[in-house]
Amino acid sequence: MTGEPVHKPLRDVLDGKRQSVPPIWMMRQAGRYLPEYREVRKTAGSFLDLCFSPKLAAEVTLQPIRRFGFDAAILFSDILVIPHALGRSVRFVEGEGPQLDPLDDPAAISGLRLSIDDDALAPVYETIGLVESALPANVTFLGFCGAPWTVATYMVAGHGTPDQAPARSFAYRHPEAFGRLIDILTDASVHYLVRQFEAGVDAVQIFDTWAGVLPPGEFQRWCIEPVRRIVDGVRGKVPDARIIGFPRGAATQLARYVEQIPVNAVGLDWMIDLNFARDVIQTRRPVQGNLDPMVLKAGGTALDHGVDTVLNALSGGPFIFNLGHGILPDTPVAHVEGMIRKIRG
Ligand code: CP3
Repeated sequence: MTGEPVHKPLRDVLDGKRQSVPPIWMMRQAGRYLPEYREVRKTAGSFLDLCFSPKLAAEVTLQPIRRFGFDAAILFSDILVIPHALGRSVRFVEGEGPQLDPLDDPAAISGLRLSIDDDALAPVYETIGLVESALPANVTFLGFCGAPWTVATYMVAGHGTPDQAPARSFAYRHPEAFGRLIDILTDASVHYLVRQFEAGVDAVQIFDTWAGVLPPGEFQRWCIEPVRRIVDGVRGKVPDARIIGFPRGAATQLARYVEQIPVNAVGLDWMIDLNFARDVIQTRRPVQGNLDPMVLKAGGTALDHGVDTVLNALSGGPFIFNLGHGILPDTPVAHVEGMIRKIRG
């Protein structure tokens, strides 16, 4: 059957086409700020149980689409399902975040399995199928993975830290062993993203949440190079794969990131200078971002001003409205509604 190709505004931006009303989604849009998420969460057991229950994970993926009419749905899962599929123990402790068995010596890295157990991720691919068949045709469906550096920071430390000191220190002291870990994660990410495309996502985002803690040489080696290999590897199997890169905190290193990695768009965090973002980055690549999640939580005139500032800077070119990082759990739903009204007019 042939027909009009479906118009997906967000996917069109990834293809370089500016939209008169920017498409909108929010990082962490399925989550604790939504009462309907908290309801499902209560019934699911552990957080990983929720990620691996296709019906429930599909339901929470769709909740923010139903409530807000966002232009993208993001698969409900977590970046740490990759260490899990590499056989590492991953637990999410209420109020404390993720807990993994730390990988703090080179011998432990030598003992890692080299490829993921794809069966462990089968529920994720099943979730993708369920979401795809339920999603309105104009909504872009996003898969994702964590970038190798960011996933490695959790694997080495065994938990989140403010400045990723354990992984930075390990990478300086044992660059070869750390490089092996990065290589394993790079190969795993290629495989995982290709399988997500095969299962039905329209595009993927690579989250490098901790890119900003690295000096330029290490940023090149541990962020740019692995992510470039992921993009090349995925396109080797899925030639038209659309990919968004999000190297949070990269600041002016973002220029090098877009020069060296053929991502379709780049996510901007809220700390970036907007003149730099518009003049140096958006002239090369569509951009996505970057309202401060704290402004969304605060609301009021700060929110109005924040939305205007982002729109004034970036809506003249190919642009996807988003936050500069994930929505904070205690953000009022009414503030999200107000933000969307203001953007869509
Ligand atoms: O809505 C979406 O964006 C899709 C789902 C999604 C989650 N995590 C669900 C989640 C996505 C894309 C992620 C990515 C993720 N996970 C990142 C990269 C982006 C970022 O936010 O920096 C990182 C670093 C993780 C690792 C992770 N997962 C941490 C550090 C935590 C604990 C902190 C927290 O917010 O609780 C998680 C748990 C997590 N992942 C929750 C959700 C909804 C909360 C757990 C719960 O509901 O019980």
